[in-house]
Amino acid sequence: MSNQSSMKTPGNDLGPVICVVGARPNFMKMAPILRAMAAHVPPLPVLLVHTGQHYDKDMSDRLFEDLRLPRPDVNLEVGSGTHAIQTAEVMRRFEPIVDTYKPSCVAVVGDVNSTLACSLVAVKKGVPVVHIEAGLRSYDRAMPEEINRILTDQISDRLYTTERTAEENLRLEGIPSSRVCFAGNVMIDSVVFGRSNARSAAETLKVCNADASVLSHPLGYGVVTLHRPSNVDHPETLRALLGVLGEVAARLPLVFALHPRTRSNIERFGLMDLIDPTRMVLLPPQGYLEMLGLMSGATVVLTDSGGLQEETTALGVPCLTLRENTERPITVEQGTNILVGRDRQAILGAVQEILAGNGKRGRVPEFWDGHAAERIAADLYQWLMSGKPQAALKSSTP
Ligand code: UD1
Repeated sequence: MSNQSSMKTPGNDLGPVICVVGARPNFMKMAPILRAMAAHVPPLPVLLVHTGQHYDKDMSDRLFEDLRLPRPDVNLEVGSGTHAIQTAEVMRRFEPIVDTYKPSCVAVVGDVNSTLACSLVAVKKGVPVVHIEAGLRSYDRAMPEEINRILTDQISDRLYTTERTAEENLRLEGIPSSRVCFAGNVMIDSVVFGRSNARSAAETLKVCNADASVLSHPLGYGVVTLHRPSNVDHPETLRALLGVLGEVAARLPLVFALHPRTRSNIERFGLMDLIDPTRMVLLPPQGYLEMLGLMSGATVVLTDSGGLQEETTALGVPCLTLRENTERPITVEQGTNILVGRDRQAILGAVQEILAGNGKRGRVPEFWDGHAAERIAADLYQWLMSGKPQAALKSSTP
């Protein structure tokens, strides 16, 4: 799919939809949207911008390959920094892109710093903002993502939601329902798309030169990911969490895919000794198809990621979320997710139940059916052609 070549479609004088990706969890959301926009009749003209918030091969390039994302038309190469530096740098570098390409709208996904930064640039230039995965709330403002979610939604002109509670959250914040469209979960479009090509856990461990004997345990294996600053940035918190994970690993071997932030903190705080390599295999950040394979075959997933809470619900795999809250409550109400926080008893008790065969079964929520991106492309086209974007920009009332 060539983005720039589809920018001028005969009989279609829409400026391009600038689609923004920045960090790992954006890629699996944007890939199905780009496919759906290309398949729409007529195709929606697209310009793909990567802010470069995530830049490692493991955090970015590999996911592009796995998800068959086209190469970005523009890479802003912002890299890491404090929140202020990263957000400001995205804004500074994104502004001339908006000036040059005169988009019909800017489409952002999720809740990372790039999401908010590009939305702010667009709205101040009079360009409509489209937010995909709108309305999720943890009601925990200590999470940087919560701030990004609230602010992005406030300045968005078209908001696509993944679950019904999101509509209510937006209503409570005064966002008119006429701007909101319940389209379903694009993250699950990627699960449906990638599932048949998922790599087996055995292959993944072999490629990483890791000890594959953990996979032959009679109870199976667990998968761990951790990267939230609240879990990994403080030595005592991280030490306690690794201690509990060690206790879990004594019963069920664990495969731990390490985010760069987490690896560097484990090393910096001198906590590597807490990890028994015969029970807990450490891997670098994994590609999308590797993670799908690891999760699909797991007895349980222990995580603080938002995306994994949703993917495990779609896959029917029990998930223990190592946070006090979730912005994705449907995964708890209908799916396989349990919030266990960092509470040792809660974590060990929940693992015990799962190993006893009493793990949560759950069901797949409404519109988590692999077709969310098609619904978004169809609605977005209608919306762009209707003249409503300009009306929305001029007014903050319904
Ligand atoms: C970001 C998102 C978070 C998302 C997560 C997924 C925000 C506020 N946070 O957090 O919502 O769940 O991505 O991974 O946007 N680093 C590398 N290589 C990279 C990228 C980062 O080594 O390619 C290291 C750097 O040391 C960097 C640190 O990871 O300082 C954190 O990266 P950053 O993008 O600031 O936030 P994440 O923790 O990845």
